[in-house]
Amino acid sequence: MYTLVTGATGGLGRAFAHILASRGEALFLTGRSEEKLAALKEELAPFGAEILYCPCNLEEEGERAALFDRADRAGVRFSRLVYAAGADTQMAFEKYDEARIVFQTRANFEGAVSFCRAFLSRTPLDGTSELLFIGSVSGCSPMPYFALYSATKKALEQFLSGIRYELKGKAKVTCVLPGGMPTRPDIAENIRTHGFFGRISALPPEKVAAISLKGVRKNKKRVLPGFWNRTIAFFSALTPPPIRNRIIARMWGRTEKDHFSDSPQS
Ligand SMILES: NC(=O)c1ccc[n+]([C@@H]2O[C@H](COP(=O)([O-])OP(=O)(O)OC[C@H]3O[C@@H](n4cnc5c(N)ncnc54)[C@H](OP(=O)(O)O)[C@@H]3O)[C@@H](O)[C@H]2O)c1
Repeated sequence: MYTLVTGATGGLGRAFAHILASRGEALFLTGRSEEKLAALKEELAPFGAEILYCPCNLEEEGERAALFDRADRAGVRFSRLVYAAGADTQMAFEKYDEARIVFQTRANFEGAVSFCRAFLSRTPLDGTSELLFIGSVSGCSPMPYFALYSATKKALEQFLSGIRYELKGKAKVTCVLPGGMPTRPDIAENIRTHGFFGRISALPPEKVAAISLKGVRKNKKRVLPGFWNRTIAFFSALTPPPIRNRIIARMWGRTEKDHFSDSPQS
């Protein structure tokens, strides 16, 4: 049985792939870039686990279907889905164009819903299969200058909460809400600009991946990794919205993240 990992070529997805391959678990990896996937397969080769991969742009319905066709033709059976793909554009919404809207909503939400359905139709619904999705602590409250990202992550959590009820006894469903992880230089810079709280709440992706896998094994509904992330989320929920919006706007308006704008493979 295979674990299907989306966003495997990113910082967190790669951490999942390393942990699972080191346990000898069979992996079916995906990301947009064939070159990056081939390099990751090579990197994981010393573990001796079975590794398959298939590039797929999650924005494209046809590519999503083609991935599952390919898996079916190869006789792959899935027991776990790790949906770690995501796009985190951070800028004033006035600056968005249509491509940025489509890209972020499809990678963060539509792709997740679509993979969820395709996975469920290919896995035994006997309570053992695991569906693990990466949301974000940013989905806990509205976020000026990160508004669309925050909304897609909130939508994901709400969707998972609903299907979790439907799938009781049939499959485990967990949504993980990480805080900052320095997976790319622009994210590391972003964390730095958030000062003391940014620094203390940031966690390495390896740690988040390990906590997430434990969470889904125990069928936790929601996992908020790290003491400081939980504390910040708790106090943030207690803060009156106008004050919270002002604080978030001041912190998130300072920098921009537009990692995926130039090239899908950048
Ligand atoms: N880093 C953080 O601070 C942080 C905090 C909270 C939540 N998260 C969430 O954690 C997850 C992983 O983030 P990360 O930090 O590992 O980011 P990352 O290093 O930028 O990785 C993102 C991954 O998603 C893939 N992806 C993006 N758009 C895609 C698309 N349209 N089709 C297919 N694959 C696509 C990328 O594939 P390519 O390699 O092909 O581009 C890459 O593998 C995301 O869901 C993110 O929202 C991150």
